[in-house]
Amino acid sequence: MPLQEQARETARYLSGFGNEFSSEALPGALPVGQNSPQKVPYGLYTELLSGTAFTVPRSEARRTWMYRIRPSANHGHYQRLDRQLGSELGPITPNRLRWNPQPFPDTATDFIDGLTCVAANAEPGQPTGASIYRYAANCSMERVFFNADGELLIVPQQGAMRLVTELGALEVAPLEIAVIPRGMRFRVELLGATARGYLCENHGCALRLPDLGPIGSNGLANPRDFLAPVAQYEERDEPVQLVQKFLGELWATELDHSPLDVVAWHGNNVPYKYDLRRFNTIGTVSFDHPDPSIFTVLTSPSAIHGMANIDFVIFPPRWMVAENTFRPPWFHRNLMNEFMGLIDGAYDAKADGFSPGGASLHNCMSAHGPDHVSTEQAIRAELKPHKIENTMAFMFETGQVLRPTRQALESPELQQDYDSCWAGLTKTFDKNRK
Ligand SMILES: [Fe+2]
Repeated sequence: MPLQEQARETARYLSGFGNEFSSEALPGALPVGQNSPQKVPYGLYTELLSGTAFTVPRSEARRTWMYRIRPSANHGHYQRLDRQLGSELGPITPNRLRWNPQPFPDTATDFIDGLTCVAANAEPGQPTGASIYRYAANCSMERVFFNADGELLIVPQQGAMRLVTELGALEVAPLEIAVIPRGMRFRVELLGATARGYLCENHGCALRLPDLGPIGSNGLANPRDFLAPVAQYEERDEPVQLVQKFLGELWATELDHSPLDVVAWHGNNVPYKYDLRRFNTIGTVSFDHPDPSIFTVLTSPSAIHGMANIDFVIFPPRWMVAENTFRPPWFHRNLMNEFMGLIDGAYDAKADGFSPGGASLHNCMSAHGPDHVSTEQAIRAELKPHKIENTMAFMFETGQVLRPTRQALESPELQQDYDSCWAGLTKTFDKNRK
């Protein structure tokens, strides 16, 4: 994106990660010096959306004050929807799994109808864990959605979208991500004919930037590149369906107005977006390569010190310069559980079978690594500086085993021959050769 265009883009948003932001769509709508005045400017109602318990340490606290046309409490009874998300877990399997891209729907399908659950490692009511979804949609939502079960990390793979939230709008396209706080109401509008991507639902502590340790005070994802919306509101007195996900189920109620009616707000419990191309990738300039934790964009800590509930990790374009080194990811059996997706291009550890929009799941202690074609190429390769370009893979890495859903295991996109990509790794051992 040209620099001027980047500057314009940034000007439409508030920049920074975890800031105490304030924004008002009408001058003077935001009360000054207090949160809950007796009479709010413009006859608005005050409402608090908390993202953490009131008593957590101040550094953990997330909450936003909203000044809105109607309080959210102004709604009727919720009814369970017929269409649900296919969250029922399938039979236990230790097998490595890989799926082809999700096909686009051939009937009108909005973001909610296009969501399907792939895997989960906790009941949605637990205060830890993750659930993973894929979405494929071909029309904008007329309704509004919120998720009571966790924060949503949206990773578009195809098609740009406008996320119209209570706090304002975020436009996200492939190679960008968006995060919507738990409970935040939003509508997904498609900016093209179709949209497809991945979604990680975080039931645990809110995502934050990882600590940098010896890297220092800069690098990886920099705070100023995270963008929150500015206030905008809808004064729309017409029927709107409000859908919520509660303990994994979809429920809906009918409002007589748009719930996206927040005129002013302040706080740090906000939706935000980030352009993955801004990630300052760090890697070796000598030999071997560091652990993939250096590719962490965002992390959600667990109760075990140093072990993430969720790490969101990317594998972006980068130079490979390591000397005397097997350059693809090494073969490994990890404690952590890895759900991978591919946004663009090709992933350097797989010669084929892993397409943009596809996904793979390698759970705790499952043996994996580059396929045999990539391995043989890497062993033979001349080790000159080489740039991996036109690629963007990612991982939702979790501390608890992800169980695929029944529908993901029965899906025609599940590859039946995934194991065979390692079958060609034949014995090359020769005790007379060093
Ligand atoms: Fe892995």
